[in-house]
Amino acid sequence: MGDGIEATHFTRLMKEDDLSQVSLIEADAFPQLFPPTSFRKELQRQISTVIVAISTVSSFNSHEHSNLSPQKSALLSPSDKLYRSGNTGWKPGMEFLTGFVLLWNMSAEESHVISIGTRRSHREKGIGELLLHSAITRCINNGIDSITLEVRVSNKPAISLYRKYGLTRQGSRKAYYSDNHEDADIMTVIGIQSSEYKALLNEKWVILQHRLKT
Ligand SMILES: CC(C)(COP(=O)(O)OP(=O)(O)OC[C@H]1O[C@@H](n2cnc3c(N)ncnc32)[C@H](O)[C@@H]1OP(=O)(O)O)[C@@H](O)C(=O)NCCC(=O)NCCS
Repeated sequence: MGDGIEATHFTRLMKEDDLSQVSLIEADAFPQLFPPTSFRKELQRQISTVIVAISTVSSFNSHEHSNLSPQKSALLSPSDKLYRSGNTGWKPGMEFLTGFVLLWNMSAEESHVISIGTRRSHREKGIGELLLHSAITRCINNGIDSITLEVRVSNKPAISLYRKYGLTRQGSRKAYYSDNHEDADIMTVIGIQSSEYKALLNEKWVILQHRLKT
């Protein structure tokens, strides 16, 4: 990091203690989502896997975000208010979560990325990629050969992230999202068990590790 402190980022499976932070990250990343995901239920669901990203050094400064004039604060959306209020769901003694990815195993060969989100305060630092990389690695280790997902056609950051990991557009779902009737692109990668794909994953890992340290 710029101040000489080295941040360590890693992933692990979600556990019960993480529920408050994961729910707040989801509310921030998907303000339109209603009802919110019951991550407690996801913990018990057999087909479900939730991976969280953890940062040992937090650059999140709640004061920085709460210091808004009442006039400016009134203009914020509910999710902006939540975020800027400094309510991260984190409490002393907890690990600081920076993002999550929710996967459903649809069959022995296919997994579906249901959602992936990172804290706004920690975007464009490699955390989303770390989560996707971990999710794909986990899928490979479980014998999965293809990953599929839906993404808003306007969601350039997510589409770019998915393309980076070989997902390509296979079709679309018209008016898939109920909030604004936006279409979804269906993106898929097949053949993640292949040695070519594993080599791509290793290559990305080296670059990502370097990025996460800077
Ligand atoms: C999509 C999302 C998870 C990316 O997380 P992130 O931690 O910011 O992403 P990273 O820093 O790891 O970036 C990885 C790649 O994502 C893409 N990306 C991320 N932010 C981007 C941006 N603002 N513009 C274009 N591409 C972007 C790039 O391909 C990037 O690789 P690069 O840095 O080599 O160009 C994050 O923006 C987010 O939580 N968005 C809201 C929720 C959402 O839309 N989720 C996806 C739908 S399920």
